[in-house]
Amino acid sequence: MDVRELRLARPDGQPLPAYTPGAHVDLHLAPGLVRQYSLCGPAQERGFYTVAVKLEQNSRGGSRAVHESLHAGATLEISEPRNNFPFHACAPHSVLVAGGIGITPLLCMARELRNVHRPFALHYFARSQGHAAFAQQLDSPEWRDAAHLHFGLDLSGTAEALERALADPVAGAQLYLCGPASFMDLVRTIAAKRGWPTGCVNLEYFKAGETASAAEADRQIQVTLARRGDRVVVPAGVPIIDALRRAGVEIDTSCEQGVCGTCVTRVLDGIPDHRDMFLTEQEKTDGSCMAVCVSRARTGHLVLDL
Ligand code: FES
Repeated sequence: MDVRELRLARPDGQPLPAYTPGAHVDLHLAPGLVRQYSLCGPAQERGFYTVAVKLEQNSRGGSRAVHESLHAGATLEISEPRNNFPFHACAPHSVLVAGGIGITPLLCMARELRNVHRPFALHYFARSQGHAAFAQQLDSPEWRDAAHLHFGLDLSGTAEALERALADPVAGAQLYLCGPASFMDLVRTIAAKRGWPTGCVNLEYFKAGETASAAEADRQIQVTLARRGDRVVVPAGVPIIDALRRAGVEIDTSCEQGVCGTCVTRVLDGIPDHRDMFLTEQEKTDGSCMAVCVSRARTGHLVLDL
């Protein structure tokens, strides 16, 4: 996984402001370039903050600046920590469910729960161990009793693992989610089915600030099918795969969550807006293929090899 871990300390060595698990800070990476990153903890550590930044293929400068321009010893302006992700350290039991780089705030929470000796389970879903931040650490004996690593699962495997993870919630238990939107929707659906009260479900969507704007994400696009010579209109908010099916185009799928790669299709023209967790960063940068189950377009028109 293309993740860079940063340790941020004050130049004068003084302690940093305290924060609660789930908090994030603004990093001022360049004039006009401010990005939020979750603090990974441990929350008691006041000498430095830790953040983990995944290089986003569609970076509008934030993650790219972190990966390519920052060097050890650089001076960076940051905000005080802020927290929009409620955390209940005293809950009788906690279940934390992370997808991809969504592990960062949940790792901080898990560290705190461990520190205060509260029971919890951390479930971490990623395409593979190589794509999972902190995988080595979470696979260590210290974490093995609480951390459950789920790598390379298709949709039914993911759903089965979630059914088990979310079964029989203890009264007062808290559920925490962070990851891509499609993954979060699946977790929330299964949590509701398994009897988790809405008020006990706490979530933070994986930050999409470096991908397409909301307007780009929701607008209508056109897809030309090069081999068939057809053109399909994909309305705002409709997945490309659904629009293709309605037009009678058969494409094999499995997870429909951007995880398995079954639906990956060659792109002949246009720029995809990648939302999947399957393609490598290089493949996303090349833009010559895309997972049509979840990804959209940064251009109003795509030409697919179909
Ligand atoms: S069907 Fe699995 S990535 Fe699209």
